[in-house]
Formats: sequence, C-alpha cells, structure tokens
Amino acid sequence: MTVDLVIRDALIVTPQARRHGGVAVDNGRIVAIGRTDAMPPARRVIDAGGRPLIPGALDVHVHVREPGFSHKETWATATAAAAVGGITTVLDMPNTNPPTETAARVREKIAIAAPQALVDFGVYGNVGEGNVSELRAMAEAGASAFKLYLGSDNPLVPCPNDGAVLDAFAEIRATGLRCTVHAENTPILRWRGDRLKAAGRHDLAAHLEQHADIAAVEAVSRVALLAEWTGCKVHIAHENCRHALPIIARAKRRGIDLTAETCPHYLLLSMADAERAGGNALRVKPPVREPGHAGPLWDALRDGTIDVIATDHAPHPAAEKRQQSIWDVSPGFPGLDISMRLMLTEVARGRLTLERYVMAACEAPARAFGLYPRKGALLVGADADLVILDLERRAPIRGADFGSMGKVTPLEGLETVGAAALTLLRGTLVAEDGRIAATGGIGRPWNTGR
Ligand code: DOR
Ligand code: ZN
Repeated sequence: MTVDLVIRDALIVTPQARRHGGVAVDNGRIVAIGRTDAMPPARRVIDAGGRPLIPGALDVHVHVREPGFSHKETWATATAAAAVGGITTVLDMPNTNPPTETAARVREKIAIAAPQALVDFGVYGNVGEGNVSELRAMAEAGASAFKLYLGSDNPLVPCPNDGAVLDAFAEIRATGLRCTVHAENTPILRWRGDRLKAAGRHDLAAHLEQHADIAAVEAVSRVALLAEWTGCKVHIAHENCRHALPIIARAKRRGIDLTAETCPHYLLLSMADAERAGGNALRVKPPVREPGHAGPLWDALRDGTIDVIATDHAPHPAAEKRQQSIWDVSPGFPGLDISMRLMLTEVARGRLTLERYVMAACEAPARAFGLYPRKGALLVGADADLVILDLERRAPIRGADFGSMGKVTPLEGLETVGAAALTLLRGTLVAEDGRIAATGGIGRPWNTGR
C-alpha cells in the first residue's frame, strides 16, 4: 500500500519515551509508527534528519476575538500564529461580542471560524446567570467545553452568583464536558479595586494589590468544593499563585476531576521584570506576581499538580497596552506564536524534560478536554497533527513578526532556543520555518460530528 506521507528519520518523542524511527500517514491519520526502513512507500516523504517529532500542541486557553473584536484579532490571524507556533488545536474563549452564551451563538462562532481556520478548533460556551437552562443545548450545538468567569469585571461575561454556579455545574456534569474556571473572588477584586482607585493609585503594583493571593485561594477552594459536590469536571485556568497549588493537589488526592493550567508568562516573569517587560503593558488577569511564585509553579508543572501549559493568548492593539493609568490598560498579551519556543528554551536549560513538555502541551490537554487519543498523541489511529522541532534554532522574540495582530509582548527581545520547524495538520503542511504553508479553512471544529 502506498500512503500519503512518511516522515523518516525522526526522534519520536512522547510523554513516555523517545525513539528513532518513522511515521506513516494516510487520509489524515497516523497509520504506522516504527523503524524508518519498515515504513511503507509514500507519495510524499519528509526527512526529519534526526530532529524531534512531537504531536501538535493544544492550547485550551485562547481569546480569538471574533465576533466583535476583529480589530484585535481574527480567526485567520490567531490560527496562523498557532500554526507557526506548533499548535494544531485551539479552544476559543467566549468573551467575544456577542458572548458565546446560547446554542445559536455557538453555531454562529463555528461558522465564523471554519472558513478562516488554519488549525483545528473548539469553542467555549460561557456560563452566566441567564443561560443555565441553555447549557445542554450549547453542548449539542457543538460547544467543546464551558468557561466560568468567577473573577470578572467584564460586563460581557459577568460573574454569576454561587447558586447559579451550583446549578450550572450540575447541568454541565450531564453534558460530560469540562468547565474551565477563571478562579478569583469577584467581591474581593471589586472591593480592593475601588479602594485603590479612591486612593488615587494608577500604577501596575496597584493591579497586583487588587488581585490578592487570597482571592485566588478562595476561588480555587470553592471551585473544588462545588466540583466535588456536583461531579462536574473542572479546569483551573491560568494558575499563577503558589498558595493555590496545595489546594489543587489536595483536590486531586480527593479524587475530584480537577485539572489545572499555567502559562509561560507566570513561569518566566515576575514583578521584578516589570520595567524590562514594558511597565503597564505587563497587565494581565490574573497578574504576574511578585518573585517567589514561579519556582513552585515549575515544581507543580514537573510533578503533575499543574497538568497543562496554555497561553491565555489575549491580543490587544498596541495603543490599548500603552496607557498611563493601569486601570485603562487592556489586560493580556499574545502567546500562540511563542509558547512552544519559550518552553523549548526552558527544556534546553534543563528545567523540564521534552517528554514532560509533550505531556503538558499535547497529551494532558487532549485528555482533559476529551480529545485523546485523536489529538495530542503519537499513536496509530490518531490525527496526524505533527510537529518537527528544530532544537538548535536561536532567535530573539519580536512582536512585530507575530502572526497574531497582538504585537506587544512582555517577552520582547528574549533570546529563545528551539522552535517548531514544520507543523502538519491531519497530514497537511500548514507552517514551515515561521511561514504559513496552507490556506484558511483547513482547520475544522472538533465537536460537531465532522
Ligand atoms: O488578561 C486577561 N485578558 N484576562 C482575562 O481574563 C481576559 C483576557 C482578555 O480577554 O483580554
Ligand atoms: Zn483568558
């Protein structure tokens, strides 16, 4: 049998092992893995030249921005950034305009995304006080997961009361989907924010003071409790606080189906870097904290307390990032282009094994969101979402070069070692050496019976 594609002479890396060999792909799926000389004949052969081959990464925390904020990002630009960055599946957040909070909005978003997408995608449904009875219909319409903003001052996605959350968790449990939670205590954030503003504070440190550690600790504890009570699967978004880690670990020990993510900016930056990182532009919710959190976050990533690396890709125009008052600065920054480069740089430093990175970037998110082993796995039968790495490539981070429309990054100028050289989506080359090699529309929604 002649297959569509063989990748030969690769260092095949999975969370469990690494070995030299080849991978055969037919009809978009992996059909054989083994010694290079045992691979079938193929219409196309890619010689990996001994470089590592990993599954395409998943990013379960991405703000694509359409509909409503096409001046910040589009599905075309976000998924281009993902493809270049070695990310073959993204899960899009619901704080768009209109927010994704009904079955019709889920279908509408998928219709906007599909013709543009360069990688596969899912969409989150938002959880609010007004749509608890709509959650099951949203799942049926193709929502891949739910998002709960427990710490939010965004009027598009207000924080629901605990009674609504309790009912929502029971509904979500029935769908079998997972609920990702922005776990901060809204009343604490509101009270402190008002107090700091009244005191005339407008500096970056005031934003950190607003987001007190206890606001995270309390909300993570409450989420774990409500998840245990209802049986709803939950995922703690963008964990940045060392004091929350023992609570996450304890919830797992109790058998609660709770997973957690952190993001490269919390692993690599602290407030001590604020000046170099662009001052007020470092604003992100939750904040980059004072020194002392990254060490425990790295430990948690290594020991599995933190399951997943996600970006919280949150692009904004440069003018929105450069405001005098911290309260006027749009929070967040782009991550899709550079997450893999940043993490491979830490692998090169010995902070993380490549195997553990593949677990946190590929297998663990695929498992958490019900996509494993179709996604996130180098196994026969899996989608041939594959990335060949160049571990030697050195380059400085340049926001101006991003595929994303968000160009302001607190990591500007940082020298990285290692990058995605080739990104394949279901066997088709979508990006090579930083350039897009496919046209939009190749990406598919994963949850709509494709
Ligand atoms: O920094 C953030 N940016 N945190 C959020 O929760 C939302 C996000 C955004 O949409 O810009
Ligand atoms: Zn986010």
